Amino acid sequence: MTTFREGWETALYGPDGFYRRERPAAHFRTSVHASALFGRAVARLARAVGTSEVVDIGAGSGELGDILRAEGLAVVEVELDDELPSSIAGLAIANEWLDNVPCDVAELDEDGVPRYLLADLSLGEVVSGNDLRWLEEWWPLQEPGDRAEIGRARDLAWASVVERLAEGGVAVAIDYGHVRAGRPPYGTVTGFRAGRECDPVLDGSCDVTAHVALDSLGGSLVLQRDALRALGVSAARPSLELAQTEPLRYVAELSSAGEAAELLDPSGLGGFGWVWTAAGEAAVRRASRALTD
Ligand SMILES: C[S@@+](CC[C@H](N)C(=O)[O-])C[C@H]1O[C@@H](n2cnc3c(N)ncnc32)[C@H](O)[C@@H]1O
Repeated sequence: MTTFREGWETALYGPDGFYRRERPAAHFRTSVHASALFGRAVARLARAVGTSEVVDIGAGSGELGDILRAEGLAVVEVELDDELPSSIAGLAIANEWLDNVPCDVAELDEDGVPRYLLADLSLGEVVSGNDLRWLEEWWPLQEPGDRAEIGRARDLAWASVVERLAEGGVAVAIDYGHVRAGRPPYGTVTGFRAGRECDPVLDGSCDVTAHVALDSLGGSLVLQRDALRALGVSAARPSLELAQTEPLRYVAELSSAGEAAELLDPSGLGGFGWVWTAAGEAAVRRASRALTD
């Protein structure tokens, strides 16, 4: 019987999978699409950690790369079927990649035993081994019927990036997610089609995503709101005086403040997590200063 994870994998990345046919921007809006301020902040982060090279993992249609190149940076885009570079000495960014990495889903049966969810939503084998250990450590289930996404597939995907960091390299995964203290009891698997949330059907007709267990990835976690502020993104509105003296600049600054507000909104994009790891003491210092000061 097909597990939910196998069905999810085929629905997104199989021969007729959603991501083989569709352009992500047609179905949902990431920070990259919300405003060029996001890409410019990533460019500032790259410069702050001392590099002009960015690896964009899960690059989608490459909109982030366009902004980074306009900022004078060299960009390597990694999409389906591309190999990750064997060594990353610059900045690696994965914006909303890990939520699209299919993972197993566990549900507690009536006897309180965790079992794998199958693609037809019935329950299969008992969860055991590393998956069980992951659940016990990161997302303990409480009541029969409770569900959890087992984050090991995302942890492993992210580890495959982090292990490629060379001295000075920095990797940042940006995504919606949760931490151990606030996991939802019924899991978070969701579908998106044409900009709207829908049932996560595994037939390739929609995107299927689940929030990321950000704390199990390893690394330091900072909220997007705080990271972007530290990188100079501000939602401060221009003074009304400017409207009199330089009306065009006033309108531009007002629009930029509106876009920044969307990126910083704590109940929206601003609540996303930035999980970062840097290789070497100097890189840790630089990244920490850039992302948290
Ligand atoms: C939600 S989209 C994000 C696109 C872009 N980063 C953005 O912020 O707009 C996720 C992207 O990850 C890509 N992806 C999924 N698994 C991947 C893998 N193993 N390697 C590279 N890209 C992958 C998908 O094809 C998709 O384009």
